[in-house]
Amino acid sequence: ACPNVSWGCLLLLLLCFAWMGDAEYAKYKDPKQPVNTRIKDLIGRMTLAEKIGQMTQIERSVASADVMKNYFIGSILSGGGSVPAPQATPAMWINMVNEFQKGALATRLGIPMIYGIDAVHGNNNVYNATIFPHNVGLGATRDPDLVKRIGEATALEVRATGIPYTFAPCIAVCRDPRWGRCYESYSEDHKIVQQMTDIILGLQGEIPVNHTKGVPYVAKNKVAACAKHFVGDGGTHNGINENNTIIDEHGLLGIHMPPYYDSIIKGVATVMVSYSSVNGEKMHANHDLVTGYLKSKLHFRGFVISDWLGIDRITSPAGANYTYSVQAGVNAGIDMVMVPFNYTEFIEDATSLVNKRIISMSRIDDAVSRILRVKFTMGLFENPLADLSFADQLGKKEHRELAREAVRKSLVLLKNGNTPNQQFLPLPKKASKILVAGSHASNLGYQCGGWSIQWMGGSGDITAGTTILDAIKSTVGDATPVVYSENPDDSLMKKNEFSFAIVVVGEPPYAETVGDNTDLTILDPGPDTIRTVCSALKCAVVVVSGRPVVIEPYLPLMEALVAAWLPGTEGQGIADVLFGDYGFTGKLSRTWFKSVDQLPMNFGDPHYDPLFPLGFGLAINSSQPGFSGTRSRGDKKEITVWAALSLLLSMMIAWA
Ligand code: BGC
Ligand code: BGC
Repeated sequence: ACPNVSWGCLLLLLLCFAWMGDAEYAKYKDPKQPVNTRIKDLIGRMTLAEKIGQMTQIERSVASADVMKNYFIGSILSGGGSVPAPQATPAMWINMVNEFQKGALATRLGIPMIYGIDAVHGNNNVYNATIFPHNVGLGATRDPDLVKRIGEATALEVRATGIPYTFAPCIAVCRDPRWGRCYESYSEDHKIVQQMTDIILGLQGEIPVNHTKGVPYVAKNKVAACAKHFVGDGGTHNGINENNTIIDEHGLLGIHMPPYYDSIIKGVATVMVSYSSVNGEKMHANHDLVTGYLKSKLHFRGFVISDWLGIDRITSPAGANYTYSVQAGVNAGIDMVMVPFNYTEFIEDATSLVNKRIISMSRIDDAVSRILRVKFTMGLFENPLADLSFADQLGKKEHRELAREAVRKSLVLLKNGNTPNQQFLPLPKKASKILVAGSHASNLGYQCGGWSIQWMGGSGDITAGTTILDAIKSTVGDATPVVYSENPDDSLMKKNEFSFAIVVVGEPPYAETVGDNTDLTILDPGPDTIRTVCSALKCAVVVVSGRPVVIEPYLPLMEALVAAWLPGTEGQGIADVLFGDYGFTGKLSRTWFKSVDQLPMNFGDPHYDPLFPLGFGLAINSSQPGFSGTRSRGDKKEITVWAALSLLLSMMIAWA
């Protein structure tokens, strides 16, 4: 035996253990370490390829465990309607997400990926999920607590599918209803949008007091949120989607920026950049606003994500110079790029730009730190894999009840009888026979609108839910026959003794640019249906639309008019209020124009001459059959401003 050899062996063994111990313990893996310590430790270990991988978000259709592993991909998304299988169950979603995640965890450093989806009115791509009213309707409720509860329910339904991140809320301040995304906006009034950012507290969890401003906060089992689209998306010229917002600093900071202040205070984890431009400069290349304002001035510490092919659209035509797009986008301050398909091109371009020092390593480290901050904060490293424990949250009864409540509160009563003492609503449940007509009365897809199962939405029985017709039938009960005819002719009315009619018409579903519309008419034959039915019978018209539409010409024909926006799957909420089980409380979150040539027209404008002003909504109490209808001509303050401005204008005209 040679003592030297055994001492040497022992030493080697000790060194070996020490080294192994070191490999075992890494600060970044230790949840007891402060987040910033973990970030620093991890960044210090990462290669350039691993860093750029973190900045890359790809679509699920091009993702696989191998792609995740080989390219160190940091994030995956489901685009609108992008699902593992039609009518996929929570288990199928979870298996898919976990498969991808296992690829990410199999990398050298095992950094988990973050999966995102557009849950913009409930987990709306997912079959059987509760679909809540679109934001325009939620704005009409004026009820931030309701919206927060919707955020909580949505978080659970997103977790039900194994997903920890949603691209919501859209906090656009839509200033022109011709914009195809106007329904994604809570209001033309930034103050209403600001209140509704409480949805973030529901999605991510209530932010603790003394939490450092700008630092993201996501509680365990909640989901990371995304305030979008930064900034000025709702202010584009003539409401053209992805177009140019021409505005001075005062207008930008006073109208479009305020909801970002609130979102950041509420701990929003991520912000998505807008396709649109501000004064001719693409937001995706806008260093002053993304880095200078959002990150430096507002101290936002979460990550900034691009929109889908957003950096491509920095050039026109889109993708004309992708290398330049990567340079301009990343240097403007975008941290994660929603590529979403050609990730090898993004990775190659980003890598060579860093090697050429056109993108600095400190910019890359800033981007990766922010992404890791969100991942650490939300506990993704500790809980990267989903299980079935939330699966039963999807479309559950309590959530559907909540959606029904939201529908009730979002309805705005615009007309009720021809004089105050001749009110038409609420309708009696006991009647000899009721006619229900119109393209939107028995169409679940239509009442959900865009971003429902499919990106563009759909028609008919796209998922589980209650149509307005079914809701009416179950409300009146068997004793009152309900006849449904989508577009009846006179003969039907002559053959039957109807007590009254409910006509449900509106817009077809749409999303984004497809929804841009300069006419804003209701879907044919809607106007004919109104004319035919309301000329023959007393009728209540319910409009299902993402925005105000041309209605003035038909107003004299109808007894009552209700704006129902895009209510989602729980149509019962409409019958609840039509038949007086609940009162009307909603107030317009938007100005209702008389004719489209008035547009754009927002409250406070000098030439404000609406059919119904912002804040308008007639009230009815819930007692049946009697009621005490009180007229509320909109929010007092809004109306005062409006009245003062009109006075000023008439004085000016008088002087001239
Ligand atoms: C996707 C959407 C995306 C859109 C962008 C669609 O194909 O499904 O998620 O918003 O493209 O143009
Ligand atoms: C939309 C975003 C959305 C993204 C992912 C884009 O087309 O503008 O709002 O989050 O697609 O689907």
